[in-house]
Amino acid sequence: MNDQTHKTLEGRVAVVTGASSGIGAATAIALADRGARVALLARRKAKLDELAAAIRDRRGHAEAWEIDVTDRDAVEEVAKAIAERLGRADLVINNAGVMLPHPIEDRRADEWKQQIDLNIGGVMNVIGAFTPALLAAASAGGRADLVNVSSIGARNVFTNFAVYCATKAFVTHLSVQLRTELGPKGVRVSAIEPGIVGTELPNHIDFAPAKQWLDSAKAQMEFLEASDVAEAIAFTVSAPKRVNVQQLTIMPTAQST
Ligand SMILES: NC(=O)c1ccc[n+]([C@@H]2O[C@H](COP(=O)([O-])OP(=O)(O)OC[C@H]3O[C@@H](n4cnc5c(N)ncnc54)[C@H](OP(=O)(O)O)[C@@H]3O)[C@@H](O)[C@H]2O)c1
Repeated sequence: MNDQTHKTLEGRVAVVTGASSGIGAATAIALADRGARVALLARRKAKLDELAAAIRDRRGHAEAWEIDVTDRDAVEEVAKAIAERLGRADLVINNAGVMLPHPIEDRRADEWKQQIDLNIGGVMNVIGAFTPALLAAASAGGRADLVNVSSIGARNVFTNFAVYCATKAFVTHLSVQLRTELGPKGVRVSAIEPGIVGTELPNHIDFAPAKQWLDSAKAQMEFLEASDVAEAIAFTVSAPKRVNVQQLTIMPTAQST
């Protein structure tokens, strides 16, 4: 455990989707370091178990749930299991996502579906399953946070990334809309919009020019690290109850757009 880290999240129960790698894994560590008990959700159970052990080594608390968040019934079941094992969730990091660029004329309906099912459908499944707990936590007087991980793709234009960027536009706009419903009831909603972060996200790309573009960007600039985004998220959810960081854009210093 980092002894310099204040226990700003002591007593809170966090749920992190996409916790098996990248931003989700780093965020789980950052939240656990601050005292939250963390539910780790993703499909690769071995990776989650490894992370839970690493968090325990830092004297934090984390438990792993193997789940595909595009399966609504499974998300509802896991929400019940988390409530039983860790207590009422009051901090939800809706992070699992996939980025599959291709020119639209290649008609990769399989990739469109995968991105829409996860980046939109999965996000909605998680919101559906945990909103009752967030509202209950807020109405009991505590802090309650829904953090949706979007992207600068929600606003900026990236050729061949149209469907991915559109899913992220959904996430950002949804977050702003939900604030008007949930904010008055005490639940904070935040959209986190990172620029390029060095994670496994590009590993699934099978459009070579997009891979090459990312590789050449990497040679020219220092990408964000997942822990940089995790720290921004930890800052967001550690704020006093009256403060809602609505949107947070975090860029590599050298990335202009
Ligand atoms: N890296 C960037 O440059 C960047 C920039 C802006 C925004 N983002 C966003 O940040 C979020 C995290 O991405 P990352 O960069 O950390 O990439 P990553 O390392 O590939 O992480 C993606 C996570 O999502 C999980 N996941 C994928 N499909 C899933 C499913 N059906 N059900 C449950 N979990 C699933 C993966 O775990 P399993 O495979 O084990 O299920 C993994 O833990 C994404 O929403 C991404 O769009 C990333």
